[in-house]
Amino acid sequence: MLCKISVFVVFIAALSLTDSAKILGYFLYPSYSHQIVYQKIWLELARRGHDVTVFTPNPTKSREFQNLKEVDLSDSYKVLEEHHELISDYDDVDYVEDTIRLTKLCKLVLEQQLTHPDVQNLIHNNTEQYDLLVVEFVYPIIFGLKEVVKAPMVGILTFEPSLSWHDYMRSPTHPIATPNSFLPMYKNLTFLERLYSVYHSVHYRVSLVFRVGFPMRGLLYQIFNTTKNTFELAAETSIVFVNTPILGLPRPTVPQMITYSGLHLKGPNELSQLPKDLKNILDTAENGVIYFSLGSNIKSDKLSDDKKNELLTAFSQLPYTVLWKFENDSIANKPGNVYISKWYPQQEVLAHPNVKLFITQVGLQSLEEAIHFGVPLIGMPFYADQHHNARKIVYHKIGVEVDYKTFTAESLKSSIEEVIRNPSYKEKISKISELSREKPMDDLEKIVWYMEYVIRHQGAPYLKNSALDLPLYQYLMLDVYAFLIISAILIWRIMRKLLRVLSNVFKSSPNKDKRD
Ligand SMILES: *[C@@H]1O[C@H](CO)[C@@H](O)[C@H](O)[C@H]1NC(C)=O
Ligand SMILES: *[C@@H]1O[C@H](CO)[C@@H](O)[C@H](O)[C@H]1NC(C)=O
Ligand SMILES: *[C@@H]1O[C@H](CO)[C@@H](O)[C@H](O)[C@H]1NC(C)=O
Ligand SMILES: *[C@@H]1O[C@H](CO)[C@@H](O)[C@H](O)[C@H]1NC(C)=O
Repeated sequence: MLCKISVFVVFIAALSLTDSAKILGYFLYPSYSHQIVYQKIWLELARRGHDVTVFTPNPTKSREFQNLKEVDLSDSYKVLEEHHELISDYDDVDYVEDTIRLTKLCKLVLEQQLTHPDVQNLIHNNTEQYDLLVVEFVYPIIFGLKEVVKAPMVGILTFEPSLSWHDYMRSPTHPIATPNSFLPMYKNLTFLERLYSVYHSVHYRVSLVFRVGFPMRGLLYQIFNTTKNTFELAAETSIVFVNTPILGLPRPTVPQMITYSGLHLKGPNELSQLPKDLKNILDTAENGVIYFSLGSNIKSDKLSDDKKNELLTAFSQLPYTVLWKFENDSIANKPGNVYISKWYPQQEVLAHPNVKLFITQVGLQSLEEAIHFGVPLIGMPFYADQHHNARKIVYHKIGVEVDYKTFTAESLKSSIEEVIRNPSYKEKISKISELSREKPMDDLEKIVWYMEYVIRHQGAPYLKNSALDLPLYQYLMLDVYAFLIISAILIWRIMRKLLRVLSNVFKSSPNKDKRD
């Protein structure tokens, strides 16, 4: 008996040895909506017995796992506050500048994080042998970590990849069928939109190469002591996980890009209890509740006074209760039906049956939550993919879009009335909500399965898109085009010469006849 037990113990020990890998995660971007997605993943990796170290602005502080170490980078939230203008230059929407500003912000965030001793130690003094490196794929400089960690790397994004990420993986894009997800376009583009999208796809790439790509080379060298560029490093990624929820544009993707969705969504049993006061407000709102939040990055207290007044005027003329996620303790001229709080448990609020409308900046996680709980929307986009997401709402008739720059109390009020009173929005989003719940397998399972697969097969390099093996000139077929063009010119010249000679021959032949 004793023998059997010890065999069993040895067996278990061996199992856990082979099954537990050393995993390093670096999740750069200080945004709650990004980090709640990653938290799920690293907790699951720890639950499976892996030895997990993560760098994150949002540590879970979970004491459940001895094999989980979280390095707290929450100080980088201050960078976002200090440079709020980079994501909220509301009057100047420019779809190329948007991306460049976002990159600037990421650079500032990384510079702040580099002052953390643990980050310094990781970069300059890493002695650990990791089996897998997981990075937030939002800022390409971070790919440089692969050079110091020397482990297979996987990336993850919490939004649908825009043009640059597709280019990194050389996954096919088409300016009309799949316009850049940072453009205010979705399906059924008008001719002008098609024209703009084609122009944008060139302008965007050229701008990024010159204004982002080249400076990044210097940074990569400076921080990670590597002469590789971001494209070379990205091409070494084993897998990139991208968030592509139900309304994402269906598109061809490469085997290295694995889609997931709804990772942070809560099932009925996972919802927490609402705080008492809030529950009371929601329960007693006879005419229904409007939930208004611009997410964790855009601070609605920093909206102009004009806009705040238009919002408050519209709300005051409506019979509904309004919950406004507002980042200050007070707001001037607040009507009695409006409640403000710096934080609401968003999923728990959206799950409440009295909530009739969600006014949102349409970040992808908020859109996912609205669909999950079947709450119709008003989209008020500001930056990045929010314009694109707002178009999804309009296209699928699950709500309407309101332009932040031009809306007035009157127009907002009629939009609100339309979405709440016309039952078709609720019906449509409920149907999509049902659809979104059907999946072949749980997406958390899928992600973790792929991560363990990459560990087992030392990076699974055979998944790599064959296009990534080609030098750029071959991928763009420059040599072939050059050959064809030069040949065509040569052939054209030879033909012309030949024609000239022939015509001279014909011209001269009658003379010959005469002489004869
Ligand atoms: C590198 O790590 C060792 C041991 O952990 C430590 O003694 C040393 O000071 C570190 N060096 C730097 C430059 O951080
Ligand atoms: C988009 O175009 C398709 C195909 O032409 C058409 O069937 C569909 O009704 C259009 N949808 C909208 C919302 O215009
Ligand atoms: C940078 O990398 C080169 C080549 O790998 C190496 O010789 C050099 O010592 C490194 N410099 C630093 C500061 O680590
Ligand atoms: C809240 O608003 C007041 C008045 O507008 C302002 O003075 C104060 O700085 C704000 N507080 C915060 C935390 O933003």
